[in-house]
Amino acid sequence: MNENDICEAHRKGWNETAAIHERAALGDLLEAVRSPDFCTFDEVEKRIFGGIDLAGKDVVQLACNNARELISVKRAGAGRCVGFDISDAFVDQAHRLIEAAQLDVEVLRSNVYNIPAEYDNGFDLAYLTVGTIGWLPDLSRFLAKVAELLRPGGQLFIYELHPFVFVYDEETTDPIDPRITRSYFRDEPLIFHGGQDYVDPESSVESTGYWHHHTFGQIMTSLIEAGIILESFEEFPHCNSSTHAEFAKQPNRLPLCYALVARKQM
Ligand SMILES: C[S@@+](CC[C@H](N)C(=O)[O-])C[C@H]1O[C@@H](n2cnc3c(N)ncnc32)[C@H](O)[C@@H]1O
Repeated sequence: MNENDICEAHRKGWNETAAIHERAALGDLLEAVRSPDFCTFDEVEKRIFGGIDLAGKDVVQLACNNARELISVKRAGAGRCVGFDISDAFVDQAHRLIEAAQLDVEVLRSNVYNIPAEYDNGFDLAYLTVGTIGWLPDLSRFLAKVAELLRPGGQLFIYELHPFVFVYDEETTDPIDPRITRSYFRDEPLIFHGGQDYVDPESSVESTGYWHHHTFGQIMTSLIEAGIILESFEEFPHCNSSTHAEFAKQPNRLPLCYALVARKQM
């Protein structure tokens, strides 16, 4: 399958997921975002955003889903906030949440690879959250796009699943005594033919998904090629996603997620 076919499959899959999340969680979220205290940040994000100082910064979020995280960024004092997501249905949910929150946040439906050039050089910070980069077949081209969106000196904050967790099959592995069943250096994407939803485990998604495994070597190389310089990098034994949360009970403490802050060269 070529990149366009994969992204189109993901658009359909995330539209299917959106219908599940709408039933399971949107009502509560529409209420929650009305609060001026609404915030999705965990302790790591609070600390890192404290260091970045969001006040007045123009922020872009790629693969922003229903924009609940971008709404939190705006509530934390950011300037212009723009999100992009490929799913029509999640963009529609984002617009409803933004309206409920009564905030000036823009969310557009776009494949991250096709974001119009008018947004280039428009942002002080790009924010990528958990469950983003694996959906993207070409990491180098994606991070090059991120660099184009940033102003010189602009920062990138990634808070993602650790690539090491994908050596385990989360559906069949005992998280307390996990067995390595996949190579860390696999080239082929993991192909999910449906599976349990991460917001509503009672529901399952039928669509096929292609999760692209990007090693830390590939992430670092793509950042260097894009002219983005690392400022801080931390690995954590907690998990920032429900998909691998059980692995955090492992007594030997596995690397489950990471936070990376980097800056586009001046
Ligand atoms: C798990 S969410 C990640 C965002 C956020 N952390 C969350 O949990 O809601 C993954 C998002 O990536 C989006 N996505 C996947 N491929 C994309 C692409 N090529 N361009 C833009 N968005 C994409 C999906 O539509 C989905 O909303």
